[in-house]
Amino acid sequence: MALLDIIKLPDPLLRQPSKPVAMVTAGTRKLMDDMLETMYAAPGIGLAAVQVGVPERVLVMDLSKDEEPKSPIFMVNPQIVWSSEQKSDYEEGCLSIPEFFEMVTRPAEVKVQYRDRQGEPREMHATGVLATCVQHEIDHLNGVLFIDYISRLKRDRVIRKFVKAQKLGKL
Ligand code: NI
Repeated sequence: MALLDIIKLPDPLLRQPSKPVAMVTAGTRKLMDDMLETMYAAPGIGLAAVQVGVPERVLVMDLSKDEEPKSPIFMVNPQIVWSSEQKSDYEEGCLSIPEFFEMVTRPAEVKVQYRDRQGEPREMHATGVLATCVQHEIDHLNGVLFIDYISRLKRDRVIRKFVKAQKLGKL
């Protein structure tokens, strides 16, 4: 496995919609394994392929706590097929927008259809932090970032901060 570079705001690739994966191959699994290792090292709880510069509809997550055994989730071509009316608020962050956290309101529960690491079709009913995380990661596949849900003032401020950091060569 290999550690991959995580792209950061304001990289324009973060705004590009990712392409569906035609078939889950050994190459897809290698990408997912490298993404998982990269995510653990960061550390983070979710990572979309576009964040490592590969605009394909692939994501990995692991919400297990430090003391628990690892429980990675691999999703290829995930689609939200149902969202609850009920909303919940979580403070979100993103490995592509380091050290920035804001409350985001999203549906509290979602059903997601996807293909797993073997390419088998699956469905997940996600609640709690998992529901937030999977929605955040699927947003990445559509070029959407969590800062799109916060006030324009706060969003412009964080974008400016990252543009400036990039110019100074600090990213
Ligand atoms: Ni993110």
